[in-house]
Amino acid sequence: MHTPLHEPCASWGATLPRIVTIVSAPVANTPSSSAPGHRPVLLAEAVAALQPRPGGRCKYLDGTFGGGGHTRALLEASAPDGIVLALDADPAAIDRAFALRRDPGIAERLIPVHANFADLAIVARERGVVPLDGILLDLGLSSFQLDQPERGFAFRHEGPLDMRFDPGQGAPASDLVNTLPERELADLIWRYGGEPGSRRIARAIAREREQAPIVTTTRLAAVVAGALGGRRGREIHPATRTFQALRIVTNEELTALEAALSGALDVLSPGGRLAVIAFHSLEDRIVKRFIERESAGCICPPEIPVCVCGHRPRLQKITRRAVRPDATESDANPRARSAILRVAERLTDETDGSTTGARR
Ligand SMILES: C[S@@+](CC[C@H](N)C(=O)[O-])C[C@H]1O[C@@H](n2cnc3c(N)ncnc32)[C@H](O)[C@@H]1O
Repeated sequence: MHTPLHEPCASWGATLPRIVTIVSAPVANTPSSSAPGHRPVLLAEAVAALQPRPGGRCKYLDGTFGGGGHTRALLEASAPDGIVLALDADPAAIDRAFALRRDPGIAERLIPVHANFADLAIVARERGVVPLDGILLDLGLSSFQLDQPERGFAFRHEGPLDMRFDPGQGAPASDLVNTLPERELADLIWRYGGEPGSRRIARAIAREREQAPIVTTTRLAAVVAGALGGRRGREIHPATRTFQALRIVTNEELTALEAALSGALDVLSPGGRLAVIAFHSLEDRIVKRFIERESAGCICPPEIPVCVCGHRPRLQKITRRAVRPDATESDANPRARSAILRVAERLTDETDGSTTGARR
């Protein structure tokens, strides 16, 4: 059945071009817009992309609440009746979301749920907020997590080698470090960290863990630094890529992202927007390919002359090119430097049908 296009949740929604370069927005990229501890990245751009408007009764899902910077901005821009369903895999982030509910004007409009964003479609249906006007994913970890040695994300501070976003789910990173065969460990560090010295690092870890299991962040960091030698000129700490690889695998981050993107298509309203902020190339490639594939009519291999796939476009690209932080934001917040925002809009069912099988 054809679903009518909902009224866009933005005062400029009727005139916004279908493909835009997002440069201005109703909120500023200021640290004061977030809870202390995490400076939201591409705040103005991401919020503008979701087109919130006051009094529109818009419904959003923030899949990565973190410190709540993006959620708060969405609530402010969609007051007095916009709703945000805020998820986070980290129970500490959800505690912060419940604390934010104490703010006047927010209580009834913020729904915090401790959940993995891989399940966002299920949670959104359970909470009765489908269809959604916008979904935001701001990937990776928050400064809260990085700044707490006991979470095990930081190689500069001693803590247990944990790295789980949800400490109650799955196994800590130390399990990978102490049990994976050397070759698999090297492949993991290469594939998810892009670390050229992955084989040397895996060999050093294998040797070291024969003495005693590696269970702290600083011990692993020292083993990695020792394996890579004291080469000068490195811009980043020698353990950066290894820690990134272990974190991605420990939290099954790429699998969760794929599930979230697919779920988002099912719960976005026609005209609803999906905005994803990625921090490294593996994540961004998944987002980019997903948007390209879901924006395409036919996805048959080029050698097939007539479409047989019947694939329908369900998305429209909104950002022609990825949006990156400007120099001011990158200078003020080094964490923002690698951020890449991509935005797409859910098409109407009518649009889906009219372009079925069209070759691109
Ligand atoms: C970069 S922070 C988000 C910051 C937030 N946008 C803000 O303005 O404060 C990413 C958050 O996403 C959470 N996270 C990462 N992967 C997740 C997943 N698969 N499901 C739910 N939350 C996830 C992390 O626990 C972290 O709190």
